[in-house]
Amino acid sequence: MQFFFKKLKIAVFDEVYEPAEDSFMLAKHTHRLKGRILEIGCGTGIVSINNAKLNPRNRVLAVDINKRAIENTEYNSKINKIKNIRTIHSNLFSKVRGKFDHIIFNPPYLPTTQEEKLKTKLNFAYDGGKYGRKTIDKFLKSFGKHLKKSGNAFLIHSSLNNLKKTESIANKKGFSMRIIAVESFFFEKIYLLKLTVS
Ligand SMILES: C[S@@+](CC[C@H](N)C(=O)[O-])C[C@H]1O[C@@H](n2cnc3c(N)ncnc32)[C@H](O)[C@@H]1O
Repeated sequence: MQFFFKKLKIAVFDEVYEPAEDSFMLAKHTHRLKGRILEIGCGTGIVSINNAKLNPRNRVLAVDINKRAIENTEYNSKINKIKNIRTIHSNLFSKVRGKFDHIIFNPPYLPTTQEEKLKTKLNFAYDGGKYGRKTIDKFLKSFGKHLKKSGNAFLIHSSLNNLKKTESIANKKGFSMRIIAVESFFFEKIYLLKLTVS
């Protein structure tokens, strides 16, 4: 399946997250970021490609734990003639080197029981573990090491994930947290958080 986002053609491979409201929120609020950009969990690449296209001088690194997502991002970069994106198959920061001006992440945040797990690689996109925080907590533990001094992280979060806990972890790591966008859905709210060195 394939659709247009702004002027970008976005193909969605099987076993890759189909961009939804959270993706569009993240893309909308990160399109002007400048410099060296890291997107964790790129999926189809929609957020990274949108930023790279609008800021040709940026250097964007897109990583995902799902190899199919990496292939999808590479394909979409190619059909949209984007040259300033590189991809790495990586579990969070495990293969990432260096520091970035901004880090972006729309994580898997759904509280998920053992029975609810999907049997395909698409599970990586949704499965947040019992409380929806499994990947968020790992991200919070190490994102600071990969940010330049004046850098920011932009993290999608759900009302199901305990915002207070995220704020407390971020504060302990020396970051302040601000909600910069929010959208309500029938069973949850989706937030975009900005984490800045305090
Ligand atoms: C909700 S989807 C978001 C995809 C895309 N950024 C978007 O907004 O449409 C979450 C993405 O994070 C990836 N992911 C999950 N855990 C990860 C991890 N530990 N390291 C890297 N990527 C991860 C998934 O494979 C998936 O592509």
